Amino acid sequence: MVVEVTVQETSPFDGQKPGTSGLRKAVTVFQQKHYTENFVQCILDSIPEEKRKGCTLVVGGDGRFFMRDAIQIISRMAAANGVGELVIGHNGIFSTPAVSCIIRKIKARGGILLTASHNPGGPEGDFGIKYNTENGGPAPEAVTNEIFARTGKITSYKLCKEITVDLDTIGSNSWEVEGHTFTVTVRDSVEDYTQLMKEIFDFDLLKKLISGDSDQQPFKFVANAMNGVTGPYLKRILCQELGAPDSATLKCEPKEDFGGDHPDPNQTYAADLLELLKEGVHQIGAAFDGDGDRNMILGQNAFFVTPSDSVAVIADNAMCIPYFAKTGLKGVARSMPTSAAIDRVGQKMRIECFEVPTGWKFFGNLMDAERISLCGEESFGTGSDHIREKDGVWAFLAWLSIIVSRKMSVQDIMKDFWKKYGRSFFLRCDYENVDSEAANKVIEVLRKAVEDSSLVNKTLTGGSGKEQKSYQVKSTDDFSYTDPIDGSLTSKQGIRVIFTDGSRLIFRLSGTGSTNATIRVYVESYEPDESKHMQEAKNVLKPLLDIALDISQLQKLTGRDAPTVIT
Ligand code: G6P
Ligand code: ZN
Repeated sequence: MVVEVTVQETSPFDGQKPGTSGLRKAVTVFQQKHYTENFVQCILDSIPEEKRKGCTLVVGGDGRFFMRDAIQIISRMAAANGVGELVIGHNGIFSTPAVSCIIRKIKARGGILLTASHNPGGPEGDFGIKYNTENGGPAPEAVTNEIFARTGKITSYKLCKEITVDLDTIGSNSWEVEGHTFTVTVRDSVEDYTQLMKEIFDFDLLKKLISGDSDQQPFKFVANAMNGVTGPYLKRILCQELGAPDSATLKCEPKEDFGGDHPDPNQTYAADLLELLKEGVHQIGAAFDGDGDRNMILGQNAFFVTPSDSVAVIADNAMCIPYFAKTGLKGVARSMPTSAAIDRVGQKMRIECFEVPTGWKFFGNLMDAERISLCGEESFGTGSDHIREKDGVWAFLAWLSIIVSRKMSVQDIMKDFWKKYGRSFFLRCDYENVDSEAANKVIEVLRKAVEDSSLVNKTLTGGSGKEQKSYQVKSTDDFSYTDPIDGSLTSKQGIRVIFTDGSRLIFRLSGTGSTNATIRVYVESYEPDESKHMQEAKNVLKPLLDIALDISQLQKLTGRDAPTVIT
């Protein structure tokens, strides 16, 4: 069918600046006339014309409300802007890791991901659009800055109004647009990703664990998709491929509003999983976020594994995973606020260990340059260079691989790890939905203290009674990072207060919220003494948290006397 191109006049919208991970706003914002179209045109314009003409882009999302509308818009506009083919997930569904996997596999020019990750969805919730480049990873800042610059100048966009894509049928359809062919291929949502997992892990061994055999009972676990995109992936991999019963997977139907839940796998929003694990029946539990790149791991009786520890344990046990046994661990990395647990593993293995700003995109260059194979973030992100996104289901399969190889429980694996390396106690306190001005004030107070070095060498005390503890400040800074591969500088990435014993306080504003501000306070301290490893993190870190609140004047400036979420 031959279709016409229409040029539609438009004018710029304020604030179309991609955050830590794409443009995220309330659905109602994206529903404004021309809003989504403007942003999509700027993404397409950011691809140089000679690379855009006839190129292939991968498109899919986490199933949230407005995703289907957005896919139709993208299809009409991609056709009109000379794109050759869109590869779209069946029913529009692709997890974020699956998009990364397919971009790399079919050597696409890039991908457009329709997700606001762990933010709630539905007509009253959030929507998001993220652009990934040809390495399969989130677009680097040079690209997102260019997209943003274009959003401020846009005067028109192009579309083919007659195109409507049937998302519910697998297969291809083509249209003729100004002498070129535009094809849409609707592709199975889980097949490519499942094949990749089979290359990375030993499915026969995992199947024995999960299904049991003559000398072993089936291993009891539960995986919760939180009504997000991982449902079909869990069903296919855990149930169909590895033989787990249906009852081992929960909330596996992707819902437009995530069933009204907040699809963020932490102890607050996945409280139902925590309660279930407390019953002591399951040996491991996992939850995943809306778009499938985050994960939370719990052991029996709801023993919580911090994401900082999780990636460090995977590093220490990398040889239990066939992929790493083959490629070796080239190096490791973590985001700045993530605890130093993985650094100690890296040092022991004598491999490079990088500290990058918050945001998965900062790992991409290191992976492409083959400097790292494994990385993680405190924000429940764990992943490797098999793709260029963090990967929730991969992390769970990694844990299952360690459990089956070491024949130990989650808790024993953790205890053994702490015995070997010491324990980094870690907490993150989030103050959500704070007035933006007040949040900026908090950061200003801290920045000032960094600028005039007023905290350095000071002894600060927190906690009360027997729990009182003092720490001496060694240094303070506002974290900045020079990418070792391309030399780009990223500054103002969070205030760090580092103490003489290696303990740290970190303050930064979230880059993923859609309204107002979220202040994150990260608290970390190191304990080498094994007899103290089983203490509660919140007790151990109470004095440091008091110090954090004191030096930031957070309570006074924001009027908040408690965090909204503690992870
Ligand atoms: C997204 C990114 C992560 C990052 C996180 C930080 O999930 O993919 O790489 O760690 O956002 O979010 P924040 O709200 O702390 O900026
Ligand atoms: Zn996510």
